[in-house]
Amino acid sequence: MMEDYTLPFWIYLTVLTVFIGGAMKKMILASHLSAASTLVAWLGATVLVERLWAFCLPAAVLLALLGLTWCLYSSITSRPLPLLPAQGKAVFITGCDSGFGKATAKHLDALGFEVFATVLDMSGEGARELQRTCSPRLTLLQVDITQPQQVQQALLDTKAKLGLKGLWGLVNNAGVCVNFGDSELSLMSNYRGCMEVNFFGTLNITKSFLPLLRQAKGRIVTISSPAGDHPFPCLGAYGSSKAALNLFMNTLRHELVPWGVQVSTILPSSYKTGQSSNTAYWEQQHKQLIQSLPPALLEDYGEDYVSETKELFHTYARNANPDFSPVINTITQALLSPQPRVRYFAGPGVGFMYFIHSYFPFSLSNKFLQKLFVKKKLMPRALRKQSGFDMDLNLHNNNNNNNEEKLIK
Ligand SMILES: *[C@@H]1O[C@H](CO)[C@@H](O)[C@H](O)[C@H]1NC(C)=O
Repeated sequence: MMEDYTLPFWIYLTVLTVFIGGAMKKMILASHLSAASTLVAWLGATVLVERLWAFCLPAAVLLALLGLTWCLYSSITSRPLPLLPAQGKAVFITGCDSGFGKATAKHLDALGFEVFATVLDMSGEGARELQRTCSPRLTLLQVDITQPQQVQQALLDTKAKLGLKGLWGLVNNAGVCVNFGDSELSLMSNYRGCMEVNFFGTLNITKSFLPLLRQAKGRIVTISSPAGDHPFPCLGAYGSSKAALNLFMNTLRHELVPWGVQVSTILPSSYKTGQSSNTAYWEQQHKQLIQSLPPALLEDYGEDYVSETKELFHTYARNANPDFSPVINTITQALLSPQPRVRYFAGPGVGFMYFIHSYFPFSLSNKFLQKLFVKKKLMPRALRKQSGFDMDLNLHNNNNNNNEEKLIK
């Protein structure tokens, strides 16, 4: 039989096996892929099986069989199960001054949850709005998650209100992005600032509330970021802290299985949340950066380069999505679905990005990120000098893609 097959066939088979093997491995390890990517893997598997068994079974029969299995499988897995009732369930949400936190607190309160919402500023606009618009079930707590005494106090207050009842849900929403810029131009304090809130703060909250969550066999829902999985340019400090958070949550997810506590992560696309559109904050950060950078480093990159990054971020933040509902809906799903998913993509394009990242070589998926995310036109100053006059000209009338590619590298 073997001699019937030619060399191209074996090459074809090897490539296909590597592709499907890789895809299957990633799918099984991470189990975070959307239906579309599962379909691609299935189609690949179909072709492979068809090739291998072509001489045993007529291909058409096999394809029909596999197609039928696929249809059955997807109809079973994609049927939305009715949500659990919210009544009588308590949920603790961090970072409710604005953005996702505030919107989530309002939505969950309206659904009938007993909401504990933490804010940084008890007399702030967000806290007042929650107090004004929500039911008397909602409890506001002042918590800076980086302050263990405040976390401890919030735990005591929550316990006092819950009585003997456990906590059904913890929504880890509080997080910060303290700077936006090249990793070399980010200060140590930027890295520590992100880690302090996004990682250590969330860690302390999660550990503190776990006994209550175990008691209720409840859920942990964490708002993370695709920047914790993919190397977004200019988000090194923020992304690293979210990567640490993702790994921690994934570990916890396995460890809490025996306790019946389920752990989900939400991966939102870019939204107009409180901090990202705070222009005054970012201008202040920019000024401080210019003052704090070693002069030699500032000379190498150029002040105009740093300013361009800041402007790009402003544009990016201005164009972000103001409608939080995809995020709020996935948080609700993670809290109330009988079978919450490990990961939820919230917002347009996130699932597609994970698809690219899962199936394409790194060199390609990174290019995709750079093209789509920050479209820098300026090169660092020191590199501009080297490449001379031609490059300078290109910088000023840069309309074609070839030039842009040269400059981004
Ligand atoms: C939270 O952090 C503080 C300070 O590091 C620590 O004393 C406390 O034990 C932590 N909470 C938990 C539950 O680990």
